[in-house]
Amino acid sequence: MNRRGPSMNVRVGRCRYRSPVICASGTFGYGTELGALADYSAIGAVTTKTVTLDPREGNRPPRIFETAHGVLNSIGLENPGIERFCREIVPALRRMKIPFIVSIGGTTQSEYEELARILDRVAGVKAVELNLSCPNLRLKKMVSQEKVLTKKLVAGVRRRTTKTVIAKLTPEVTDITEIARAAEAGGADALSLVNTYYGMALNVETGVPRLGSVYGGYSGRAIKPLSLYRVWRVYQAVSIPVIGGGGIETADDAIEFFLAGASAVSLGTVNMVYPKCAAGIKKGLQAYLRRRGIPRIARLTGEGHERAKRVG
Ligand SMILES: Cc1cc2nc3c(=O)[nH]c(=O)nc-3n(C[C@H](O)[C@H](O)[C@H](O)COP(=O)(O)O)c2cc1C
Repeated sequence: MNRRGPSMNVRVGRCRYRSPVICASGTFGYGTELGALADYSAIGAVTTKTVTLDPREGNRPPRIFETAHGVLNSIGLENPGIERFCREIVPALRRMKIPFIVSIGGTTQSEYEELARILDRVAGVKAVELNLSCPNLRLKKMVSQEKVLTKKLVAGVRRRTTKTVIAKLTPEVTDITEIARAAEAGGADALSLVNTYYGMALNVETGVPRLGSVYGGYSGRAIKPLSLYRVWRVYQAVSIPVIGGGGIETADDAIEFFLAGASAVSLGTVNMVYPKCAAGIKKGLQAYLRRRGIPRIARLTGEGHERAKRVG
């Protein structure tokens, strides 16, 4: 450990970040709007809201509903489209000097490939995250619910970009390790786990669903054990780094994800309540490493598997 304390640098694909705390897509705007509400110094990278080829208005409201232990959302990928994104948002992100990961989505493989091709030429973009929870037009299910499609799509994107490619998977599958292996075989540099779980809520007085699109994605505190389990399993199945998240609110939550196999952690819903949370979580991680004499955060990745072997 050097005089300044444990190293918090992490490597995700071809990118190096000075903090392992990453803001998850869709919960931190484009990274440019929050200003003094956020503390950017603790953030390794911001993942932008998913951008599509054409602008999208998103789903009909209401699109967010808070439950006792989490949040339901059905935003429906509202975004200005790739052209405006590159013209207005990328320059703003570059001025802020924070590393960013561009989340992309589409309804066909060729849309993802075209987005990757466009972004490959955009200065400042170093990584793309494929939001593979978008419904595929032909299959009528999410890309990352199908291993053949996952591998093919990731390989198609891989051919069109030299940037770091991160595949973000849905947890809504029988065996997420199969999908993770398919993404790795397609050429992904890293995986991001997990996106939201299907969920819904009803108003008992009116009988009407709380979300305008009836059901949506569930995130926040309640999903943590489910997400942690998936990170644990995927870590054993692949050799590329995993960005782990889903329900993280505290430094201890983040530590669990590192122990399970994450190389970096993502903060989603918690940002909507407390956009400065990254600072406290990074500080808590540093304190933990210092207390245990661990010189760098990267050493914590997968440590839980070693400990489990020793006790079991
Ligand atoms: C309001 C909202 C919007 C989201 N939008 C996106 C999105 O555009 N693209 C994406 O890949 N994930 C999106 N997500 C999923 C989050 O990035 C994250 O994967 C998920 O919420 C689980 O993490 P959490 O429990 O920490 O929020 C969104 C989540 C929320 C709550």
